[in-house]
Amino acid sequence: MAYKIKWGIMGLGKIAHKLASDLQLSSYAELYGVASRDEQKAKDFGAKHNAAKCYGSYEELTDDPEVDVIYIATPHVFHFENAMLCLKNGKHVLGEKPMGMNAKQVEAMIAEAKSRNLFLMEGIWTRFIPATEKLIELLNQKIIGDILFVRADFGFTSPFNPEGRLYNKKLGGGALLDIGIYPIYFSLLTLGIPTRIQASARMTPTGVDSYCAMLFDYANKTQALLDCTLEADTPTEAYIYGSKGHIKIHNRFHHPEKLSLYRNKELVQEIEIKHSGFGYLHEIEEVNHCIKNNLIESPKLPHAMSSNLVSVMDQVRREIGLVYDSD
Ligand SMILES: NC(=O)c1ccc[n+]([C@@H]2O[C@H](COP(=O)([O-])OP(=O)(O)OC[C@H]3O[C@@H](n4cnc5c(N)ncnc54)[C@H](OP(=O)(O)O)[C@@H]3O)[C@@H](O)[C@H]2O)c1
Repeated sequence: MAYKIKWGIMGLGKIAHKLASDLQLSSYAELYGVASRDEQKAKDFGAKHNAAKCYGSYEELTDDPEVDVIYIATPHVFHFENAMLCLKNGKHVLGEKPMGMNAKQVEAMIAEAKSRNLFLMEGIWTRFIPATEKLIELLNQKIIGDILFVRADFGFTSPFNPEGRLYNKKLGGGALLDIGIYPIYFSLLTLGIPTRIQASARMTPTGVDSYCAMLFDYANKTQALLDCTLEADTPTEAYIYGSKGHIKIHNRFHHPEKLSLYRNKELVQEIEIKHSGFGYLHEIEEVNHCIKNNLIESPKLPHAMSSNLVSVMDQVRREIGLVYDSD
């Protein structure tokens, strides 16, 4: 039987459970080891998801010579130190978004991965969702002509909890870094790098953004209008308007299963493409493919995309006056 890539998971919270579940669907990977700061939690997680090794510290996972790649699923502020620990111990890395807290961290992570010839990718699973692949194909065919502007929002209601990951500044809280990253990624994917960034936000008593509105301008006069919030259940859809029509990317646009194509206000085509499992299988397979082929970055989600993403988020943060300890 062909060798299966041995995966480790670091930080066993909500998203780790979903990725562990999707890992079971891959023919090219096995969930080998899991690591928590709490050994019993690791054992419970490992039993549920069939992991061979369950560690009570992150270091034990990175010390295990059997581990090929580690998925980092800790709060944002720890991504940098966790990824550096993995890379320095010779492990490939799939790191949850945002890759780091700021451009300085992300550039250091990329440099470390390159210097050690290790694979590093940010967990922007959107890129690998089959409906996103279809969208890219349609845009390349210029099915809606030249793009004029893009709109995308991401919002859900999360009750204010000053200690929780989403509102606690010490854990990298705020809407922008947690979910605003998706509309921004969408704008980079469809329009590229903006030349002008305007943003405005409402801040919580903990000093992070609970709502952030953004307007990006581009050299070719296109624009992107984006927003994100932790205070309301907004549609979480994306729209691309072109000279010959528009495409709606249905809720939730960051892992869509439906696209609608319109011309002159008329719906002309609906495209439904299911993703597998919770939707993480597609990024898992990309990681497997890249590692098997000795690639240190994904051609579909290259290091440059993570650099651009964090650089745009840094600029938005300057506009809204959001500073973290890591800055
Ligand atoms: N791609 C996606 O769709 C998606 C969705 C949700 C979240 N995420 C990303 O995944 C990351 C984790 O999100 P989550 O919702 O899974 O968070 P979560 O449920 O709070 O889990 C985070 C885990 O990190 C570990 N951790 C280490 N130090 C910690 C500390 N000081 N405080 C709290 N936890 C600590 C804990 O694991 P141990 O106790 O086991 O050490 C905890 O269970 C975030 O960066 C987020 O952006 C991505």
